[in-house]
Amino acid sequence: MRPTSPAPATTTVGIVGGGPAGLLLARLLHRCGIDSVVLESRDRAYVEHRQRAGVLEQGTVDTLRACGAGERLDRYGLVHHGIRLRYDGRSHRIDLPALTGGRSVVVYAQTEVVKDLIGLQLAGGGPLVFGARALAVTGADTARPVIHYAHEGREHTLTCDYVIGCDGFHGVTRDAVPTGARRLYERAYPYSWLGVLADVPPSCDELVYAHSERGFALFSMRSPTVSRLYLQVPNGTDPADWPDERIWEELDARSATDGPWELARGPITAKSVLPMRSVVTEPLRYGRVLLAGDAAHIVPPAGAKGLNLAVSDVTELARAFAHLKETGSGELLDGWSDACLRRVWRAEHFSYFMTTTLHTAPGQSTFDTRLQLAQLDRIASSPHAAAELAENYTGVPQAPVPVPVASPS
Ligand code: FAD
Ligand code: DHB
Repeated sequence: MRPTSPAPATTTVGIVGGGPAGLLLARLLHRCGIDSVVLESRDRAYVEHRQRAGVLEQGTVDTLRACGAGERLDRYGLVHHGIRLRYDGRSHRIDLPALTGGRSVVVYAQTEVVKDLIGLQLAGGGPLVFGARALAVTGADTARPVIHYAHEGREHTLTCDYVIGCDGFHGVTRDAVPTGARRLYERAYPYSWLGVLADVPPSCDELVYAHSERGFALFSMRSPTVSRLYLQVPNGTDPADWPDERIWEELDARSATDGPWELARGPITAKSVLPMRSVVTEPLRYGRVLLAGDAAHIVPPAGAKGLNLAVSDVTELARAFAHLKETGSGELLDGWSDACLRRVWRAEHFSYFMTTTLHTAPGQSTFDTRLQLAQLDRIASSPHAAAELAENYTGVPQAPVPVPVASPS
């Protein structure tokens, strides 16, 4: 007897990876009456609890709302109208709406975005299979590419009209594109982040990005009672070398200011080390295989752009599929890679700028430190320089969400 397959054997759009990119794409396609299957290698609990991003651009919030994932976001998301830059003992507030014609960001954890999208998908979307690990994607240059995957110890295939690799940086879909047909642009950084969660109210009601010769620190939050904090650490750092007391002392030292500031301490509930890199794969499409989100590009996290880029990639992709379905024209799909890459390279530059302006590289010269301080001073003293930062931070306007078919669920 043939083993029962956990998903249909064929679909229009096969999606590898159930992170934010894959889940949102499935939701958007479902609203347009296009069927899809999402294969996710991990289990539901793992995907829902993976600590990552926290800052959503206005365009991301609009997209999530438009596709029905706005209820908890509107209830628990924290609207932020400013960020603080701290350097050389000084603190400077960037007023986001004043500098951008009204744009702000929302602090709402990626874990919650993912929970909301999984809930919608399981309640009325297409199949979402956890524990389904893609092994390979074949036939990218044919009319029917195939995802080969393993589920509960058995191997299966999913034959598709299109395969979308939303399987993150370590995924397998990228390998479906012959190496001669893609180009990888990369940049490594000589530092990582130690990220911690702490059961303590945030010490500031806005995010604080702190430059210090001891290294960068970021003070963010998950809720009015939970802080999310990051410290620049050397590559290869073991979190075990950072007992709680050391973390608080370092956060204190790196956020020192001449103004009023007291860092509230509390129990640390999670610690992890995150390497950082910049990567872009070009093009994002090869035949009938397309790459979106972290599978296609990585940004260092200081610009808060990764999740937002993943959302704009798949929103534009869903629009292109809706256009193909409605008109038979593949024009938008053909232009999708180039359109996305323009936004990707803008975000790459901004993320690189935030990273290299705010971090202190090992062995950094005093000359380079003075350049960083001169740049931060320029942002603090020129509305034009501040507006450049604020426009990038809040994000360039995203494509509109494709209009749903008559009665979406
Ligand atoms: P992922 O979230 O990586 O999802 C890929 C999915 O594919 C995963 O669920 C994985 O299990 C699955 N998968 C992998 N391989 C396979 C396979 N072979 N078969 C099946 N499934 C597979 N971005 C922001 O916009 N704002 C921020 O504030 C921000 N802060 C960040 C802070 C940190 C500490 C980190 C690490 C990242 C941050 N980011 C931020 C980046 C953001 O988290 C990522 O860009 C985002 O997760 C990308 O989503 P994705 O769906 O493309 O990829
Ligand atoms: C968070 C992460 C970031 O990379 C960032 O720039 C701002 C906030 C966060 O996890 O809250």
